[in-house]
Amino acid sequence: MAANDLVLALTGASGAPYGVRLLEVLLRAGRIVHLVVSPAAVEVIERELDRRVRLDRFALADLLGERAAEVDPEQVRYHHFMDFQAGIASGSFLTAGMIVCPCSMGTAAAIAHGLSQNLIHRAADVHLKERRTLILVPRETPMHVIQLRNLTACAEAGAVVLPAMPAFYTRPQSLQDAIDFIVGRICDQLHIEHHLLPRWSE
Ligand SMILES: Cc1cc2nc3c(=O)[nH]c(=O)nc-3n(C[C@H](O)[C@H](O)[C@H](O)COP(=O)(O)O)c2cc1C
Repeated sequence: MAANDLVLALTGASGAPYGVRLLEVLLRAGRIVHLVVSPAAVEVIERELDRRVRLDRFALADLLGERAAEVDPEQVRYHHFMDFQAGIASGSFLTAGMIVCPCSMGTAAAIAHGLSQNLIHRAADVHLKERRTLILVPRETPMHVIQLRNLTACAEAGAVVLPAMPAFYTRPQSLQDAIDFIVGRICDQLHIEHHLLPRWSE
């Protein structure tokens, strides 16, 4: 039974720190994470975090830096973005949900139209068809109507659209606080306990 498993896809929208922080939090919560990284995400990760991920020779330390040493390697199941043989490409492989964080407009469009051109699109398709949790964390501004319609189509098919929009009523003191707000809201959707954000009226 793989119901402890989650799929995390990093795509090429700005916001790599959200995806990396989410990975850390999911691993600390004891979850098994099936990780898929798009080629565009590699570019963004390098630009935003100064880390170079190798898609063909993935090493967790390339993505998490020193924090990789704290992780049980068994918890991370990396899949190449074109590996359609991966379990997560099939509905018969059980998961507790999937998160695309950050989610580019390109990936949102592919999911909205069921294109399944890479493992990220396919796994998202699977989560929708199996009626499982699919969380998309888009980051784009402004958005044109096609992008808005694509996100609407994803939501209509059952996805949770959770834009990377940090709140300010929590009085974030740092960029880390703003990142943790979004990661905390994603964890709320997954029913994962956390203390990443102050809650309203607490
Ligand atoms: C530095 C950088 C920042 C980008 N930021 C965004 C963004 O915030 N949102 C977005 O939708 N696309 C963004 N893009 C464009 C996507 O990476 C591009 O559309 C890519 O084809 C998406 O592919 P993917 O969905 O397979 O990752 C950015 C690209 C680069 C290089």
